[in-house]
Amino acid sequence: MSFKNFKVVPKMIFGRGSFAQLDEVLAEERKQANDFVVFLVDDVHKDKPLADRVPVKPQDKLIWVNVDDEPSTKQVDELTLEVQAHSDSLAVSVVGIGGGSAMDLAKAVALMLTNEGGSAKYQGWDLIENPAVHHIGIPTLSGTGAEASRTTVLCGPERKLGMNSDYTVFDQIIMDPELIKDAPTDQWFYTGMDCYIHCIESLEGTYLNEFSKAYGEKSLALCRQVYLDDHPESDDKLMMASFMGGMSIAYSQVGACHALSYGLSYVLGYHHGIGNCIAFDVLDEFYPEGVKEFRQMMEKHNITLPKGICKDLPDETIAKMVKVAKSLGPLWHNVYGDGWEEKVTDQLLTDLYRRI
Ligand SMILES: NC(=O)c1ccc[n+]([C@@H]2O[C@H](COP(=O)([O-])OP(=O)(O)OC[C@H]3O[C@@H](n4cnc5c(N)ncnc54)[C@H](O)[C@@H]3O)[C@@H](O)[C@H]2O)c1
Ligand SMILES: [Fe+2]
Repeated sequence: MSFKNFKVVPKMIFGRGSFAQLDEVLAEERKQANDFVVFLVDDVHKDKPLADRVPVKPQDKLIWVNVDDEPSTKQVDELTLEVQAHSDSLAVSVVGIGGGSAMDLAKAVALMLTNEGGSAKYQGWDLIENPAVHHIGIPTLSGTGAEASRTTVLCGPERKLGMNSDYTVFDQIIMDPELIKDAPTDQWFYTGMDCYIHCIESLEGTYLNEFSKAYGEKSLALCRQVYLDDHPESDDKLMMASFMGGMSIAYSQVGACHALSYGLSYVLGYHHGIGNCIAFDVLDEFYPEGVKEFRQMMEKHNITLPKGICKDLPDETIAKMVKVAKSLGPLWHNVYGDGWEEKVTDQLLTDLYRRI
């Protein structure tokens, strides 16, 4: 048996107002007068106060990124070309500011500036050859755990798959809870539930160990304070929950909900957070307590999910989703342990999708 040897973010800042320290952090990377930084900022912040606080110098490149669609290999390759057109030299840092999508774009561009041939080539595990440009993640939406993870999830020509590698991990993250306070309630809920579901899948899984449990239990407790208790420091708590949920699954695995959600996302285009919520709502048999509590959280925040999405879809469409969900072996191994192949039948998955 070989144990996972995984890399974590080496430097992090946490605290209200800590975004103001970004300039100081970047000063350490700027060594020559013409050294430049690339900022990839979610365009939702374009005309907001945050826009004026981004410490851009005249030689830097700031790109407003649109995340209406989840990041794709095409978008990453276009952004990389745009950055390369800015200067012949390499950027000294790439800073991603936004939700999981903007942070993933920053990770991917930082990798593609030093690895040739386009991002689709590197979708998979440990295919990256050269270290990335220094990169910084700054969440403005919390839940995905992208700030903590060693992947950047991209929709590619063949499938939705991450570029998983030690080089993908951020060199620095800045977690400033003030930045997430204005997220719209629905989005705040869906992305936060990504974290809640990470915890449930990790804690209920066969891969569970004391490392994952320590992070998962604390993250789950924080999610409860945020979504059931309306804690006055909810933003701080959710930000830490997201990070710790990410650390929990880093040493275990996600489960049935993420498997179904990947199918929904790839075939029907549902975004990660809402896709997870829709899938989780039919998983009573897998996670009875978790699903019950999730419904309490939905009710408390007046969230209604789309229903009956798959009921009348053609059999071929369902079959495509079943294929995606079934291909995620490690997730099912985490759910059922050895022998999962016999349990995860087309019939089981078809029945689950038909209930969505
Ligand atoms: N790398 C990883 O480990 C990992 C893990 C899970 C999910 N993901 C990826 O993350 C993405 C989902 O990320 P997400 O759920 O954080 O959402 P997102 O980044 O896609 O953003 C969702 C919406 O919220 C908006 N938004 C972001 N911050 C805001 C703010 N402060 N105020 C108002 N609006 C704001 C965005 O503009 C967007 O419209 C997916 O692409 C998914 O594949 C990555
Ligand atoms: Fe997730």
